[in-house]
Amino acid sequence: MTGATTGATTDSIGSPDELAQTLDGIGYLADEGVATAAFLAVRMQRPLFCEGEPGTGKTSLALALSEAFGLPLIRLQCHEGIDAAQALYEWDFPRQLLHLRALEAVGTLDVEAAEQSLYTERFLLARPLLRALTEAPCVLLVDEIDRADDEFEAFLLQLLDENAVTIPEYGEVRAATPPLVVLTSNRTREVHDALKRRCLYHWLEHPDLAREIAILRRKVPGLGERLATQVAGAVRRLREMELLKPPGVAESMDWARALQTLGREELDAESAARTLGAVLKYSEDLDRVRAKLDTLLS
Ligand SMILES: Nc1ncnc2c1ncn2[C@@H]1O[C@H](COP(=O)(O)OP(=O)(O)OP(=O)(O)O)[C@@H](O)[C@H]1O
Ligand SMILES: [Mg+2]
Repeated sequence: MTGATTGATTDSIGSPDELAQTLDGIGYLADEGVATAAFLAVRMQRPLFCEGEPGTGKTSLALALSEAFGLPLIRLQCHEGIDAAQALYEWDFPRQLLHLRALEAVGTLDVEAAEQSLYTERFLLARPLLRALTEAPCVLLVDEIDRADDEFEAFLLQLLDENAVTIPEYGEVRAATPPLVVLTSNRTREVHDALKRRCLYHWLEHPDLAREIAILRRKVPGLGERLATQVAGAVRRLREMELLKPPGVAESMDWARALQTLGREELDAESAARTLGAVLKYSEDLDRVRAKLDTLLS
């Protein structure tokens, strides 16, 4: 596979450290665990299954890999009720009907030949999973698989095993080059062992303090060291409070931006109270934290 912005290719990356450096170059700060899992997925051509709390960098890892290697990103956002027609392919029924009418109109209706002509590429609407096979090399992101019904996972098994799918009326579609597949889950339910078995697995943790400070400084232009350290420290304490929704990195960044937008250079009780809505999204959490703001900032 070929690289673009970073000059990296999936074959040229020689170690997890090298991959971490390449990802760092485009603003994704991977710890050793993430870098190793992603490196192995790339080099072993195996799907990577990433699980973790919201905002731990699962989706952005796939985006970063696509950018690092200059590969197009094909994204399948899973949701309740998602089916093969949305994920894999669909026959273009209205066009098939028009085609039949046209055949009828010119009076050449050989029923068997007409039927065969309906199930050709011309009438096949490729959805993300099929596109990933026909357009590979690419990065295929199957995002939030836990939101899909568990039967949906069965559609993925052949693709993950063989880099191919079988369309009954058409035949097998096989990728010339395997796509780099990243699956993510927030673990709102367990994903089947059958799916996990086909993947390398990595559990993403929230970044440690130093990494979160580094992410904030990288992603929030103009943010000073002091404010970044205060925000990252406070967010860390919030994560220890067993809130309904502990903040992820996205919330840390929002908090830092909110403070910056108000022209604050310091996270003190007053500025924290005014901007808590950037980092906490449940009124119960806001009430609990407001009641002990001093411990948050100490
Ligand atoms: N290691 C990291 N380096 C740089 N940015 C990061 C990192 N981790 C998270 N971020 C940033 O934090 C934000 C949230 O990350 P992301 O959307 O990837 O999280 P997620 O794990 O997919 O969350 P969710 O489960 O809610 O979908 C993004 O803006 C992303 O750029
Ligand atoms: Mg995500």
